[in-house]
Amino acid sequence: MSETPTSGFRSRLFAALYDRVLAPSEEAGLAERRRELLAQANGRVLELGAGTGINVPYYTDAAESIVMTEPDSNMLKRLRRKIAASPQARFIEVGSADAGNLPFPDASFDTVVSTLVLCTVPDPERTLEEVHRVLKPGGRLLFMEHVLGKGSTARRQHLVARPWAAVACGCRCDRPTHDTISASPLELQELEHGRMPKATKFLSPLIQGRAIRPKA
Ligand SMILES: C[S@@+](CC[C@H](N)C(=O)[O-])C[C@H]1O[C@@H](n2cnc3c(N)ncnc32)[C@H](O)[C@@H]1O
Repeated sequence: MSETPTSGFRSRLFAALYDRVLAPSEEAGLAERRRELLAQANGRVLELGAGTGINVPYYTDAAESIVMTEPDSNMLKRLRRKIAASPQARFIEVGSADAGNLPFPDASFDTVVSTLVLCTVPDPERTLEEVHRVLKPGGRLLFMEHVLGKGSTARRQHLVARPWAAVACGCRCDRPTHDTISASPLELQELEHGRMPKATKFLSPLIQGRAIRPKA
């Protein structure tokens, strides 16, 4: 994996504030969702867009080895620090990778993890094709993503999507990610709709679940 330097004031600020901004949501239930989701991660695990490494403490011994990827150098710095301080550090490899062009061979992971990432990658369809490619047959994508809601929430999300993306480093609040996963080569196995606790209305609709790479 290579180092892809990402610079710019916005990227530095986003990385510096990320954990603090998310803390009220984490404390109000998002952390519990991460724990439930990541308890299912097993075997050789790849995490996409790992950010500051919020997921690091939630992996269990079922995850035999973990590759955490992140393309933003400001996030990557924090991710490396979090991993170095973790008791699981020796099982975790870290590096820069674009989820739309993963530097890994076909069928090389049992689990891929994506939390709050499909909102930000430039091409979610391409990312899901890559996830399908690097998963072993029967391997699983575990996801938790904020998504397009319904009715007045959806209207508000479409209105604020562009300005929000400009301040939040490309995060789109109006992506129908559940439809994108359903239309991908992965097979949706479990889908739960919920809310991101303590989030503003346009970031609140949340999905969590599991999709697999079919065996044949
Ligand atoms: C909202 S943060 C989520 C961080 C973390 N996964 C979490 O659950 O808190 C979105 C992350 O996606 C990363 N990202 C942006 N473009 C990406 C890409 N093309 N491939 C992989 N990750 C990307 C960002 O750098 C950022 O760390």
